[in-house]
Amino acid sequence: MILYFTGTGNSKFAAEYIADHIGDECVSLNDIMKHKKPLIFNSEKPFVIVAPIYAGAYPKIVLKLIRRTQFTGSTKVYFVATLGSKSCSCDQSLKKLSADIGMECGGVFLATMPNNYIYGGHVPTAEDAEYIIKYTSIPALQSISKVIAGDDWFDYKACNSLVYPVAGFVNKMFNKFMVSSDNFVVSGNCISCGKCAAVCPVNNIIMIGGEPLFRKKCLNCYSCISRCPKKAINIGKRTEKFNRYVCPEYKDWKENGLV
Ligand SMILES: Cc1cc2nc3c(=O)[nH]c(=O)nc-3n(C[C@H](O)[C@H](O)[C@H](O)COP(=O)(O)O)c2cc1C
Ligand code: SF4
Ligand code: SF4
Repeated sequence: MILYFTGTGNSKFAAEYIADHIGDECVSLNDIMKHKKPLIFNSEKPFVIVAPIYAGAYPKIVLKLIRRTQFTGSTKVYFVATLGSKSCSCDQSLKKLSADIGMECGGVFLATMPNNYIYGGHVPTAEDAEYIIKYTSIPALQSISKVIAGDDWFDYKACNSLVYPVAGFVNKMFNKFMVSSDNFVVSGNCISCGKCAAVCPVNNIIMIGGEPLFRKKCLNCYSCISRCPKKAINIGKRTEKFNRYVCPEYKDWKENGLV
């Protein structure tokens, strides 16, 4: 069973690719969170958790969710981290997490995908994103699927163990000082369609009098900013001129023979 969390669709694409290639089912953690569904999963095949990397680690809420989940059946879990760069030191913390929840970690995999970190301004154009998915993400997902389909073990280690404490500190600071929607602004281009509220995985947006209002539980997944049809949501003025990125749907790529 593949469980995924996503902001802009990369991790959903990755999860659906893997599910399709290993013959397993996919479950959206966004849906579970949004609708407060029970966190109980049973699978005879290994569990696979797919989520993006935020400041060097899985989003805090995903880690919390995994700790609260009741897994029955298989006791093996694989972690797939989608990310915008090529390296990440999330392996130690995810291996520790699997031990804490009484599961055996089959492996921690990295899948480089288009970078959705709009605050950093790195967001690619649709054309560049397609190139990255075709030539970087899909080959990685192909190898990952092979290991998982074979029920094999994979030992990814971040190359330099000195990075762990630094990465842990950076992640802590990021979660403490950066994760917030306090500086999100909505421009006059808003057409009150409510899409931002509909796609927010944690119901951080409520529509009042046709206007989106942000509460205090944002994850900075950037789903609302990236999916607004009018590019009406910005982080201060900083993102006004930047691209918006949303990953193509896996099923469309499959129908078009691209995967
Ligand atoms: C808040 C935030 C922080 C991020 N931090 C990192 C990072 O530390 N390293 C990295 O390689 N990519 C980083 N990214 C990029 C995402 O991990 C990457 O684009 C991911 O595939 C997005 O997945 P999604 O479309 O499923 O949300 C970050 C993105 C966001 C939104
Ligand atoms: S998605 Fe954009 S246009 Fe629609 S309500 Fe939200 S901010 Fe307004
Ligand atoms: S309000 Fe925050 S958590 Fe909700 S969709 Fe926007 S960025 Fe994601």
